[in-house]
Order: sequence, then C-alpha cells, then structure tokens
Amino acid sequence: MQIYFAPLEGLTDAIYRRVHHATFGGIDKYFMPFISPSSSLSFTSRQQADMAPSENAGVPAVPQILCKDAGLFLEMAKLLRDAGYAEVNLNLGCPSGTVTAKGKGAGMLKDPDALACFLDEIFAQSPLPVSLKTRCGYDSPDEWPGLLNLFLRYPVHEWILHPRTCREFYGGAPHREFFLEAAVKAPFPVVYNGDLFRASECLEMKRFSLMLGRGLAVNPALAQDVRGGDGLTVDSLGLFHDRLYREYLKWWPEHAVVGRMHGVMYYLMQALNCPAPLRRALKKSSDAEHYSEAARRVFAESTLAQDIHFTPPSE
Ligand SMILES: Cc1cc2nc3c(=O)[nH]c(=O)nc-3n(C[C@H](O)[C@H](O)[C@H](O)COP(=O)(O)O)c2cc1C
Repeated sequence: MQIYFAPLEGLTDAIYRRVHHATFGGIDKYFMPFISPSSSLSFTSRQQADMAPSENAGVPAVPQILCKDAGLFLEMAKLLRDAGYAEVNLNLGCPSGTVTAKGKGAGMLKDPDALACFLDEIFAQSPLPVSLKTRCGYDSPDEWPGLLNLFLRYPVHEWILHPRTCREFYGGAPHREFFLEAAVKAPFPVVYNGDLFRASECLEMKRFSLMLGRGLAVNPALAQDVRGGDGLTVDSLGLFHDRLYREYLKWWPEHAVVGRMHGVMYYLMQALNCPAPLRRALKKSSDAEHYSEAARRVFAESTLAQDIHFTPPSE
C-alpha cells in the first residue's frame, strides 16, 4: 500500500510539505496543489517557490497541472522535467465553479470527446509519465461507464480517483463501487481518495493505495499511524504547529503568516478538546503576538480528541 498526501490548495504548500515530512512519516508522495500555467508560462513568486526543486529537496513531491490546452500542458511538463521532476499529475477533478466555468479541472469531464483529444495529445507527447486525478462524472454517476472506458485507453502512470461527481462536490457518500470496478479493470495502478479520516477507515482499504487529504490536515500523524508507527499526541501536534509557524515567519510577512496559520488551525483544532474561551481567543487573534500566545495556550491546555477525524463545516 502506498499512501499519498492529497493536494490541498491554500494549505499544503512547499513549506507545509517540508515541515510535515520532517515531523511525521508514512507518506510516499506529496501531490502539490495545482499550478494553472498562463499562456506565457510566467509564474508568481509563490508559484515559483512552490515548484522550485530546492524548496522540495528531500520531499517526494509530485507537481500537478490544471490546464485544458494540450500544447500548454506539454510545455509545462517539459519545464517540470527540466527541473528534475519524474512525474506530472493532471487535475481533472477540481469542482470549484471558477475552475469548471473555464472548462478546466472537473469541467473537462463534461465533454468526453474534447477530453479524448486532449488526452490523445498529451499521452502521445508528454516528456514525463502522466498520472490523473479525477472524479467519476460531471453531472451524474451515469457518466461513469463512459469515463472509465475512456481512461482505460491511455498509458496512465497512476489514476487517483475521487469517486464523486463534480456536482456532488464533497457531499454524500463516495461511490466506492466505481473505484472497485476501476481497480479490477485498469492495467495501471488506481489510488482511492475520499473521506478516509480515521486510521481504522484507512486500514479497511489497506489492499489499495490511498490518497488522504482532510484526514491528514486534521491528524498529520494519520499515515504514520496507519503504518503502525506512533499515533498523534498533543506534543507532536504542537511540535508540528510550532515548526510550521516558525518556518512561515522566515519567509512570509507576519500578517500573511497569521492568516495562513488560522487556515492550518481550522483543521488541527479538530484533533483537540480545547476549552471554548481559548478557541475564541485563538479565532480573534489577528496579529503575531496574540496568535502565538493563543496557540501556545491551546497546545498547553488541550487534550487529544477521543475520536479524531475531519468534520465538514455543516455538521
Ligand atoms: C481546501 C482544499 C483544497 C484542494 N486543492 C486541491 C488541488 O489543488 N488539487 C487537487 O487535485 N485537489 C484538491 N483538493 C481535493 C483534495 O485533493 C481531495 O481530493 C479531497 O479533499 C478529497 O479527499 P479527502 O476526503 O481525503 O479530503 C482540495 C480540497 C480541499 C478541501
């Protein structure tokens, strides 16, 4: 079984991946949040920092491209090959309205003929092995048989399947039966992704390779635990938090660091029983001084939650 860290845009950037890799074990590959290349192939400094091989040294990171133009995908794949990457992942799963409205991400599943033309070209010419990250349909699960047959035609390096349609977003139960069908029929490795938040849930799927996202964001020791290593403790969570915070402070302006750490803590707090006034103090902290003090107290005064798992915001 391989275990991969899912790309989480706005969270698992190069700094997060490095600190996670240095603090916890169990991850075979870290998939980078999508890069959406512009036609001029110019990149923001954040994008450059995320992709630079020096920023990913020692971390098994796989770059992901979000793009509907085959020529641009191939140019980008060449840049990534020249930078030393050994594999590239194509995002066919992003359900965000701003992405699908441009016909990218899961939006590409809407038109299987156009998708086939795109895949014909990239699989014929890509300088790197191409893995796919997809959903099981755009509007309806009825699209699954057609999409499955389409993907089976290509020399896919690895297929990561989140078995929900784009319309289902992250709601309802994943269609696990589709994943099982793909795993039986595909001549290439198929990786399961979706709603594995507890070690017990991962172990039930241990005959497959897994990609974990929000479960790892809440419990960064999840993969290590699944592999029989140490489970999460308040100390290891605090250590991870402190290393991450210090590392961001080295590179980013303070206000940006505090904003990012609130995003990180949205997940980490779900692993803790934390007194309500402390939760409020953390939420309210808007500068580094108040944030550091509130975070210090959170880790000093909380206990580990009994049943650690990700809870969607509406629950
Ligand atoms: C905040 C957030 C950002 C995400 N960013 C990306 C991304 O950049 N690329 C991608 O392929 N999937 C992205 N995803 C989807 C995740 O990689 C993953 O497929 C999804 O969270 C389901 O897995 P999970 O149930 O283990 O979290 C994102 C999901 C979330 C919640």
